[in-house]
Amino acid sequence: MVNTNKNFSNKVISWYAKNKRSLPFRRTKDPYKIWLSEVMLQQTKVKTVLPYYDNWINKFPTLESVSISNLDSLLKFWEGLGYYKRCNNFYKAVKLVVSDFNSEIPENRSQFLSLPGVGEYTASAVLSIAFNKPYPVLDGNVKRVVSRIIGIRTLSKYNLNRINKFLSFVICKKRPGDFNQGLMEIGALICKPLNPLCGKCPINNFCYATKRDKPEKYPTKNKLKAKPHYNVVVAIIWRKNKFYIQKRNAEKMLGGLWEFPGGVVDQGKDPEVVLKQKVYEECGVYLTIFKNIGFIDHSFSHFKIRLNGYFCIENHCSLKENENRKWILKRNIKKYSFPRANHKLFKRLEVNNWYV
Ligand code: ADE
Repeated sequence: MVNTNKNFSNKVISWYAKNKRSLPFRRTKDPYKIWLSEVMLQQTKVKTVLPYYDNWINKFPTLESVSISNLDSLLKFWEGLGYYKRCNNFYKAVKLVVSDFNSEIPENRSQFLSLPGVGEYTASAVLSIAFNKPYPVLDGNVKRVVSRIIGIRTLSKYNLNRINKFLSFVICKKRPGDFNQGLMEIGALICKPLNPLCGKCPINNFCYATKRDKPEKYPTKNKLKAKPHYNVVVAIIWRKNKFYIQKRNAEKMLGGLWEFPGGVVDQGKDPEVVLKQKVYEECGVYLTIFKNIGFIDHSFSHFKIRLNGYFCIENHCSLKENENRKWILKRNIKKYSFPRANHKLFKRLEVNNWYV
């Protein structure tokens, strides 16, 4: 166990002051910007987030600017960042802050937790960094660092509770935000999953794993489950020089983004028959398929898809536009937000000038 909590937290804080990466959301005390950064950083690397964060803040510098925007415009700025539900929830939460909390992000933990998309991690991160509240954060990096410090092998519920207790004990009450970010930064830069740089670690003196054993063994990795693989077919339905796109239900995965109609082909089924069925079910039109344009592969967090595209036409021109259904020119693709897999398909088509 740690000698003194003060000693431990001092080491973390002074190391952080000297070694932290200079990041735009670390140069502000604006709770809105800190909240946005923490939402973007969920499951996503700092390097990936940076351009998205900068573009977003340029366009939406305040809570109010988000609250008066619409989901389509926000998703355009989130396009490519993944986990789109975060954007949808952030938008709902910001509107609630404006309407119910007089545009002030609540400092009270249970009030903040009541907002859509705000879970334990986000609450602790934002409240500690923006409002100096002494809540420890438990992200993947911090779990690894503390597992090594106190010698935890498995991240069971019981052990996560131990980590949390340990952090509540050692957290710097005066500068909890710097303490939390310091531990995250040690996890990202020093206490890496493989080949940790223990010689450079400011808290190696307190570390069970480096003194007694191989730090890499703490905590043990969960065995990676093989991701299921789905075959997906989509119809690129042409009418003159336009093709058809539709908006995904806001509550579904990739909610609010645009897509081609289609769906998953179960094993043993004929993809073209399935495509015609799916499009009939979704859009009420019968198709003629005139060309398979090939496929792209895409990996999501929990599954993989092979996306097969087909050029098609309607048997009768009956597919009508509304706010969720559009006929668009290919040069207008950039006006809509599409999932990454669709962009891969566009790219493939672009290379061949849309004739495959
Ligand atoms: N990951 C999540 N929040 C972070 C932060 N504030 N700094 C660095 N990495 C993070």
